[in-house]
Amino acid sequence: MGVGPWQGPWPAGPALSPYDESLLTDGDRRNVVDKYRYWRHEAIVRDLDTRRHDFHVAVENWGHDFNIGSVIRTANAFNAKAFHIVGKRRWNRRGAMVTDRYQHEYHHPGVQDLVDWASTAPAGEGARGIPIIGIDNLPGSLPIETYDLPRHCILLFGQEGPGLSPEARAASAAILDIAQFGSTRSINAGAAGAIAMHSWVRRHVFDQPAGS
Ligand SMILES: C[S@@+](CC[C@H](N)C(=O)[O-])C[C@H]1O[C@@H](n2cnc3c(N)ncnc32)[C@H](O)[C@@H]1O
Repeated sequence: MGVGPWQGPWPAGPALSPYDESLLTDGDRRNVVDKYRYWRHEAIVRDLDTRRHDFHVAVENWGHDFNIGSVIRTANAFNAKAFHIVGKRRWNRRGAMVTDRYQHEYHHPGVQDLVDWASTAPAGEGARGIPIIGIDNLPGSLPIETYDLPRHCILLFGQEGPGLSPEARAASAAILDIAQFGSTRSINAGAAGAIAMHSWVRRHVFDQPAGS
């Protein structure tokens, strides 16, 4: 994966500023889109910061679930505002494939800490306070396919086995499920994360009402 040393004359003057001279010399093996080839890490983060989306991603981390990394990688792909780890500070980064380094990470020891953070989080146009939207297929959950996802929100995911904790369920303004049609009780959290984030993107980037 990646590209070898920069071919041809190097970018000069101000055009050199996003580039990392050692990457230009040695090549760039990182998992980044072509636009960011040879860019310095900080320059990539700064560029992403100019166009991050208004949804956050949060994952409960009580049991070192390996699926968390996959959710965080998808949060990078969809350029979430930030991701939040709720529970144990150490989380299983393997599935994230280093994508977490290009994002803003928050840690909350418990669900109440996430609730407190959300209550003062920027909500656009000077407003404060964003809702937590639980993502899980539980009794009483609503279909994500027809729910009008708010622009400013935190999408909160549970983990293998228990799913969302009772505290997380209570903290959620709504709990949304992804329709299933087979025999398995659930899909893995990584797959659920991709579908939920893409639902937000369809609604707010492509401006399609839910269910269309
Ligand atoms: C493997 S599921 C476990 C819980 C599941 N409620 C159960 O009854 O087995 C782990 C996490 O993936 C997400 N998830 C899996 N399937 C989902 C679905 N159909 N709809 C919404 N979220 C889902 C949720 O965030 C959930 O907490």
